[in-house]
Amino acid sequence: MRQKIIAGNWKMNLTLAEAVKLAADIKSDEASYKHQVILCPAFPYLTSLQNELKGSKIKLGAQNCADRENGAFTGEVSAPMLASMSLPYVIIGHSERRIYYHESHETLKEKMNLALRYGLLPIFCCGETKDIRIDEKQGVYVNKQLEESLFHLSDDDIAKVVIAYEPVWAIGTGLNATPQQAQDMHHFIREKVSARYGIGIAERIIILYGGSVKPDNAAELFSQSDVDGGLVGGASLKADDFKKIILSI
Ligand code: PGA
Repeated sequence: MRQKIIAGNWKMNLTLAEAVKLAADIKSDEASYKHQVILCPAFPYLTSLQNELKGSKIKLGAQNCADRENGAFTGEVSAPMLASMSLPYVIIGHSERRIYYHESHETLKEKMNLALRYGLLPIFCCGETKDIRIDEKQGVYVNKQLEESLFHLSDDDIAKVVIAYEPVWAIGTGLNATPQQAQDMHHFIREKVSARYGIGIAERIIILYGGSVKPDNAAELFSQSDVDGGLVGGASLKADDFKKIILSI
């Protein structure tokens, strides 16, 4: 049985007070959560949320880390810095980073290496754009993302990675992938992991779906056999919606 995860990606939203309140609201019902919940706030709020979540089962993740270890890289936050805060998770390769900040396969490969070297658990995002989906090339496209930034990892390291399949055309658009579209791509990704690392690792690797997950579509998406939970953006900013999503799995 694979662990199920519901992760909230808060992106560049909320004031500090709002972030702490949202974490407290989500925590208030944690006794009823059966699965791992992860919150990914903006960097400056991590310490406050660590304090708010002391003693809680809810874990924290960063939304990004640098592709360098340390040094003169103004504005960047490195994997060793996050590790020094005892942070468990870090999102790597979100499509917004790939598109708006031009993060290449090579850059993401380096981020993966650094995150793993410093003991962080990466949530590696992949997923095709609308044009690629229209051309029915999503398999080729996602496979390249995996090959270029992930499949160089050792067996030990890949086993620590959570993959998030997030079709770009579904992110923040209100247009989620259908449960069947999600299942097909998750199955495809698991098969690629199996071809590279063997069935044992493929059966254990956690693959989350992301892209307009909402309280009214979460249960059906998460009931697909290869969908192990979700990476939730917009709906994770509202405590009630996010709690419903957590409880729908
Ligand atoms: P969304 O974002 O749920 O707002 O579509 C998902 C994500 O970007 O992780």
